[in-house]
Amino acid sequence: MTATNTYQQVGLEIEPLHPALGAAVRGVDFRQLLSPETFAAIHAAWMDHLVLVFPDQPVNNAQQIAFARMFGNLETHHQDIIKSAREPEIFRVSNVDDDGQLMEADHPTVAQISLAQRWHTDSSYRPTPSMGSILHGLEVTDEGGETCFTNMYNVYDALPERLRNAVGGRKLCHDFGHLADLAPIKPLTEEERAAMPPVWQPMCRRHPKTGRTSLYISPIYNEAIEGMADDEAVDLIAELTAFAERPEFVYRHRWSKDDIVMWDNRCTMHRVMPYNLAKRRVMHRATIVGEGPVIAA
Ligand SMILES: [Fe+2]
Repeated sequence: MTATNTYQQVGLEIEPLHPALGAAVRGVDFRQLLSPETFAAIHAAWMDHLVLVFPDQPVNNAQQIAFARMFGNLETHHQDIIKSAREPEIFRVSNVDDDGQLMEADHPTVAQISLAQRWHTDSSYRPTPSMGSILHGLEVTDEGGETCFTNMYNVYDALPERLRNAVGGRKLCHDFGHLADLAPIKPLTEEERAAMPPVWQPMCRRHPKTGRTSLYISPIYNEAIEGMADDEAVDLIAELTAFAERPEFVYRHRWSKDDIVMWDNRCTMHRVMPYNLAKRRVMHRATIVGEGPVIAA
């Protein structure tokens, strides 16, 4: 049976959004429990398109969490400032606090959230990084605030030989604490620091489901490469990042209220475009725990 038939059988419509990655999915309602067949079709579409956009999904947190749990266990963030006080599985990508008040632009939490304007993949600093993230747009901005996604399989495939040789067999350091070097975020407590010591991950990883190889970098957490001088490592990370953001690899998502967007953290990077911090932007993320340690390619 073709993929299109599989989708049609469970009533899903799949519309590709960019040649490299991203598809809109219609014909599903996350306020209801999904059948195993619908779940399997969504999973198949996710593996094919890497980023799925589900328009018009006015879910509550419990419904979002229930959908996310179909894929695996969920992360709870190690910092109290980001985690929802009511539902610890909800990571608040928001310039509005847990009580609904807009935070000042220079608030340390806003400074931290704004670091997502740089390319990264979620939770790469964990020994077992996240499988994927599911983000619900509750309050969206009219201007700016789009999320860009890049296909890191395609990036790996297109790397010139010099860069392919530079990353082959190498490990890169992913350190949550590096955020504090980039912006005036709230200083990490000793507990938060101890919870996330730096980890070393292969720069080329094999996807456990598709078997494909991708470049695995997460620049906001990276500054050191095993066996390489510091300045050389910083230059290489910058060069790889610039290569990965070429338009042919990138889908840019303009949000509508109640979009749910899910992405695969194992083979994509993302960033948010700047927006006016005087405007409210509220997004709730559920983050799926990875299925195991990163597999070197
Ligand atoms: Fe992110």
